[in-house]
Amino acid sequence: MLLLAVGDRLNRVALLGSTGSVGTQTLDVARHLCEQIEVVALAGGNNAELLSRQLAEFRPRLYHTLAPDVVAPDDAVLSSLEQIACDESVDTVVVATSGRAGLLPALAALRHGKRVALASKEVLVMAGELIMEAARSAGALLLPVDSEHSAIWQCLQGERDGVSRLLLTASGGPFRDCGAEELQRVTAAEALSHPVWSMGSKISIDSATLMNKGLEVLEAHWLFGVPQDRIEVLIHPECIVHSMVEFVDGAVKAQMGPPDMSLPIQYALTYPDRVPSASEHLTWGALCHLTFAPADCERFPCLMLARQAGVAGGTYPAALCGADEAAVSLFLRGAIKFTDIARLVEWTLSARRPGQGAAIEDVTATYDWAHRYVMERHAQLCPACQTQTRQV
Ligand SMILES: NC(=O)c1ccc[n+]([C@@H]2O[C@H](COP(=O)([O-])OP(=O)(O)OC[C@H]3O[C@@H](n4cnc5c(N)ncnc54)[C@H](OP(=O)(O)O)[C@@H]3O)[C@@H](O)[C@H]2O)c1
Repeated sequence: MLLLAVGDRLNRVALLGSTGSVGTQTLDVARHLCEQIEVVALAGGNNAELLSRQLAEFRPRLYHTLAPDVVAPDDAVLSSLEQIACDESVDTVVVATSGRAGLLPALAALRHGKRVALASKEVLVMAGELIMEAARSAGALLLPVDSEHSAIWQCLQGERDGVSRLLLTASGGPFRDCGAEELQRVTAAEALSHPVWSMGSKISIDSATLMNKGLEVLEAHWLFGVPQDRIEVLIHPECIVHSMVEFVDGAVKAQMGPPDMSLPIQYALTYPDRVPSASEHLTWGALCHLTFAPADCERFPCLMLARQAGVAGGTYPAALCGADEAAVSLFLRGAIKFTDIARLVEWTLSARRPGQGAAIEDVTATYDWAHRYVMERHAQLCPACQTQTRQV
């Protein structure tokens, strides 16, 4: 008999970001586990058509949208993300929105003692201390959904202490082997075609710049309480080892599996139980070799910028996220070069005055400031951008 994830009844799930890449994969898991999971709230952004279809299929009690033309069942109640996150009918809030949209709902959900299955990287990167404190004081469970953090979490189960290092693996993205010159000329279309994972556009570009891995270092620091200088990044193009933990006696535990987000999503929803998944299992005979190499921060400076923002602390990580969000959107619309993303983030971090507070209002204000700073000043900061960019 399968054990149910929340006591002896269905796990009632609110899904924020249901129309995105993680969101749609979460609904695949919910379809597969329909006897264990009940979707009680769905929240999307601007994709009215997809959200309307999801609402018709899952018939949740609550929904949220930014689009004016969503078709919802008569008995579904339009609510804010934070109302959904705190609603008494919700056991688990899956936070899979992009940008900073998930920050306040995640905080609210934790403060209300909900289980939070966290995909959105920005939440912990921007406000790690506040988020961890909220979870601690309410006794709420924060469950990682990202494959790397899920892997580390799985490796740490049954271990009390003795962690020496966390080894975060990275595919290296589509430009893993490109020279510095070549990186100046890559297009958004090339950057969006990730060799292994199929993901939303922002995270795909972040994977190509290695900003994604930088954000994951900061997330891992908050989730597992390991100092940044004991979190190493390894390029592992096969994407089979999702991350590893090295212990003080030299033993290393790795979590392996096919590169399929539905596995970590499912585990966060059924924890502490493991149940059969719809995912293909690894074919051991086909695993010829697994390779690992150090990350190159010279060609991919975003990794170093994220680490520096993490060490600086305070609102620097929020500035990093806001600047990166804006720079990636400029790159996606062909307004700047790939290599300008790091340049704009670096300039924004240098323009940020130190010594400012780290209350949640400071965090969101800093994110918005950094986003505006890049949008308003990118032409001044990298004047050659417009002329040299190849269009998508
Ligand atoms: N994709 C992956 O494999 C993966 C893996 C690990 C972690 N993550 C992280 O998970 C998060 C989501 O990634 P993704 O790839 O799924 O992104 P995505 O495909 O771009 O989806 C983002 C989702 O957030 C919604 N959204 C954005 N702004 C919103 C707002 N203000 N209010 C309500 N909804 C809003 C979008 O709605 P509309 O589309 O309707 O506008 C969409 O449903 C990111 O932080 C990413 O770094 C992703």
